[in-house]
Amino acid sequence: MEKFRLVRPQIIHKEMALDYLEEFRKKQSEIHGVGGLDRFADDYEGWLEKLEEDRRREANEELVPAETFFLMKHDAALSHRLQVDAERLVGMINIRLKLNDALWYHGGHIGYSIRPSERRKGYNKINLYLALNCVMMHGIEMALMSCDKFNIGSQKTIRALGGKQLHEYSYREDGNRPSIMQHYGIDVAEAVTKYAPIYGPIVAD
Ligand SMILES: CC(C)(COP(=O)(O)OP(=O)(O)OC[C@H]1O[C@@H](n2cnc3c(N)ncnc32)[C@H](O)[C@@H]1OP(=O)(O)O)[C@@H](O)C(=O)NCCC(=O)NCCS
Repeated sequence: MEKFRLVRPQIIHKEMALDYLEEFRKKQSEIHGVGGLDRFADDYEGWLEKLEEDRRREANEELVPAETFFLMKHDAALSHRLQVDAERLVGMINIRLKLNDALWYHGGHIGYSIRPSERRKGYNKINLYLALNCVMMHGIEMALMSCDKFNIGSQKTIRALGGKQLHEYSYREDGNRPSIMQHYGIDVAEAVTKYAPIYGPIVAD
């Protein structure tokens, strides 16, 4: 059975992290929830230092404290072949532990991505379930999520974890086409309890 866990990025993950980035580049996919990894492609060690700063930071109007995780899938076939426990980096998630005005408006508490070759397998629902457990440990009761109305994968992920739509509004990011942004709220404790029977069994220790 496949098992999943969120892990804090470390130096041992360098090769797989760069491979993750490269897959998004090759597939020309949007990338989200990576805690700025895409800006540190040439300086992985510098990115690890940045993540340390993210965790310790006081919130201000530009930056807030945040955690970034890799979603790792335990790969049973590879483990068997190599005779070691092998994991594959299938997704990433960025959790904002406080919100400033900008994040209330656009971004919310959580941003995520799943690598193109691993999409449509339900992995982002697992990603969000695990992140909600982390959010709960940080004492956040209601997770605010924002989502482009036409990003069906993200919208369905949020709804699948109990997200209730709060409102929607038109927006246009610099140079982008106009779109519609939706805000959702997730009652964190309710979601963690309700979805534990589905996702609990596939969470790795
Ligand atoms: C959005 C994204 C994270 C979804 O990841 P994923 O692993 O494919 O999502 P899941 O497999 O867990 O699917 C969740 C639900 O969305 C549906 N879904 C996923 N992608 C879909 C798509 N392109 N079209 C229609 N439905 C889709 C799934 O069928 C599933 O629905 P269900 O609950 O009815 O079964 C992924 O497409 C991605 O990384 N996109 C680029 C980054 C991004 O847009 N991030 C979100 C903004 S913060």
